[in-house]
Amino acid sequence: MTTWQPVLLANVNRPNSEKITTYLAHGGYEALRKTLKMSPDQVIAEVKASGLRGRGGAGFPTGAKWGFIPKDAPVKYLAVNTDEGEPGTFKDRLIVERDPHAILEGVIIASYAVGAHRAFVYIRGEFFLGVKRWIKAIADAYQYGFLGKNILESGFDLDVSLHRGAGAYICGEETAMIESLEGKRGEPRLKPPYPAQAGIWGQPTVVQNCETLVNIPHIIGRGAAWFASIGTEQSRGPKIFCVSGHVNRPGNYELPLGTPLREIIYEHAGGVRMGRSVKAVIPGGASTPFLTADKLDVPMAFETLAAAGSALGTGAVVVMDETTDMVEVARRVMSFYVHESCGRCVPCRLGGHNMLHELDIIASGQGKRANLARLEALTRGIPGITFCPLGTGMCEPVASGLKLFRSEFEERVS
Ligand SMILES: Cc1cc2nc3c(=O)[nH]c(=O)nc-3n(C[C@H](O)[C@H](O)[C@H](O)COP(=O)(O)O)c2cc1C
Repeated sequence: MTTWQPVLLANVNRPNSEKITTYLAHGGYEALRKTLKMSPDQVIAEVKASGLRGRGGAGFPTGAKWGFIPKDAPVKYLAVNTDEGEPGTFKDRLIVERDPHAILEGVIIASYAVGAHRAFVYIRGEFFLGVKRWIKAIADAYQYGFLGKNILESGFDLDVSLHRGAGAYICGEETAMIESLEGKRGEPRLKPPYPAQAGIWGQPTVVQNCETLVNIPHIIGRGAAWFASIGTEQSRGPKIFCVSGHVNRPGNYELPLGTPLREIIYEHAGGVRMGRSVKAVIPGGASTPFLTADKLDVPMAFETLAAAGSALGTGAVVVMDETTDMVEVARRVMSFYVHESCGRCVPCRLGGHNMLHELDIIASGQGKRANLARLEALTRGIPGITFCPLGTGMCEPVASGLKLFRSEFEERVS
């Protein structure tokens, strides 16, 4: 079993962990002090050297993203993605509620590196406690001189404000989030231009997930070499795995990237309930394809999960035991996407409805082979032609369900 002393979640179980005094008592804001003695280019170089990749789902290299922000742009922004709507994912919420300063320190360091003097926190509307904790953390950081004018006498200024979403999954997608931040309806923009070129109010913007930002103070404080020594060749550092479903001990587990899926399920999450066996696992949130039980030895890393036919996504591991009805899983996941599609583009809006319609008929036992054929055609037709990845993501559980558990679908229509 991998022994790992949590770094990202080191504070969350301490009494009064959300308070600035607790954060400071355990070395908080020391990395910021170090950062302010470095040049912005040195900070970016350190993050690049660490190999950190985004933890919000897409896995884009963080240092490279910061490097895309044009140096000569007069106004630049940073946006913190606290929307966390991907089914099965509950890591950012834990950090925001229990250790908001860990994210805020990452926000300040990232803003300094790219030259942003304004950062926006976008938070999912249902996170009531998270909103309170974010607001208090920001207010305290101003009081202690970590935000505002001339931070720690460095000459660097940064203001941070919070914007509450209204609970729409699509607003976690970075360009829909930017639209919503600007006060518009949360619908994705066509890319390019990417937010690093034209984001909030058309200005270069870095959008970063909370967990990604929590890594930043550790990279600066302990050094890129420390971070790069953890994990696998293409997946460096620690990762929070959100384990849910049919396990005995669901929860957030921080482990090095590359930890085998089997170890996460059996050693950390206490194994499958009632001693049953695993039938399927969603390894990275609902938009990632299923894995079957013969893939449990896969290391949980970007490259190895891609080779196994799935993706690391957000690291949300949903375990399903042998009693699970895979047609019903596909139907329920699809009903989520149909509800959450913003409706802007036709393939996602109508395609989702049509897939759910076919799944309803198949699940009811009234379906025919033609329903199955139509469902399959839709999973092939939608990916790649939608405005944003939501449309592609919605097809994954159905397409992989049809591929890996075909007999269950065929039985329903025979
Ligand atoms: C439909 C959809 C929903 C998303 N929801 C979130 C979310 O809730 N939180 C998040 O950090 N990223 C989410 N993303 C990914 C963001 O678009 C973006 O890649 C991420 O915030 C970048 O941060 P990172 O590089 O630190 O991962 C979502 C993407 C899509 C397509």
